[in-house]
Amino acid sequence: MIDPYTIGTSNVGADPASALPTSRAAGAPAVSIRDLKKSYVLKSETVHALRGVSFDVPEGDYVAIMGPSGSGKSTLLNLLGCLDKPTSGNFFLGSDDVARMSDDDLADIRSRRIGFVFQSYNLIQQYTVVENIQVPLYYQGRLGPAERKRAVDLATSVGLAERLDHRPMQLSGGQQQRVAIARSLMNDPYFILADEATGNLDSVTTEEILSLFDKLNSEGRTIIMVTHEDEVAARAKRVVRLRDGLLASDRMNSEESRVEARLRQHENILALAQRKL
Ligand SMILES: Nc1ncnc2c1ncn2[C@@H]1O[C@H](COP(=O)(O)OP(=O)(O)OP(=O)(O)O)[C@@H](O)[C@H]1O
Ligand SMILES: [Mg+2]
Repeated sequence: MIDPYTIGTSNVGADPASALPTSRAAGAPAVSIRDLKKSYVLKSETVHALRGVSFDVPEGDYVAIMGPSGSGKSTLLNLLGCLDKPTSGNFFLGSDDVARMSDDDLADIRSRRIGFVFQSYNLIQQYTVVENIQVPLYYQGRLGPAERKRAVDLATSVGLAERLDHRPMQLSGGQQQRVAIARSLMNDPYFILADEATGNLDSVTTEEILSLFDKLNSEGRTIIMVTHEDEVAARAKRVVRLRDGLLASDRMNSEESRVEARLRQHENILALAQRKL
């Protein structure tokens, strides 16, 4: 049976040589959005994909965004990831109103302060694990021994200490996703934005990744993920549901229900393993 608490050590962001801060003021919202709207103007019609959404994500929160197809999840994710601009409303990252920023400033925030984890990993095949983790810094020309050490520390913290020089082809899906997660942490992001991060993974590997998210969140990392799966959302601290471009509900998962979800997943995996014996 896998043990979710044995993946790596707890040294994410612990590199004293790094000039990057590892935490900001406790309690400050990592994200605050107010009456956020996004409309797509087409030739024949205007699609109101987000029709006024407001919520805060405090530092250290762990939010699952759910909702039916077409409810606006990807639109919201694109806005949170600074990949697109809202039609109106406010979007604060710390004290900066991102909704008012220029495209260049948005690109800067995106590359410096947002950690993306996608369903398809998006690793560079020719690069090693450590090189892939360092990718966010290539664009900033900051690559010295301290940065390499930080990348090695991050690889270690996600359980890849024995795989530093492997290339993506030589890794399992779960290991590749762990590289992507380590890469997302390289810039000490405001938050990790995960889009169906476990969508491609079997149940054992999904558990590995969710356990890693549990660990990162318990270390203070803010996580915002989009998922279609109830069992994945049950692991988050909070579930935000969208419907027709509006917030349909915003509920906390009790600590008890999160533990139950973890146990359920472990039991499923155990049952699966027994069937294979
Ligand atoms: N670039 C675009 N141009 C025009 N309409 C768009 C565009 N992107 C999204 N939409 C529309 O906005 C609405 C919300 O789409 P969005 O992709 O955010 O939904 P979603 O919740 O992510 O759905 P799914 O679960 O299917 O991925 C939909 O009606 C969609 O057709
Ligand atoms: Mg979508």
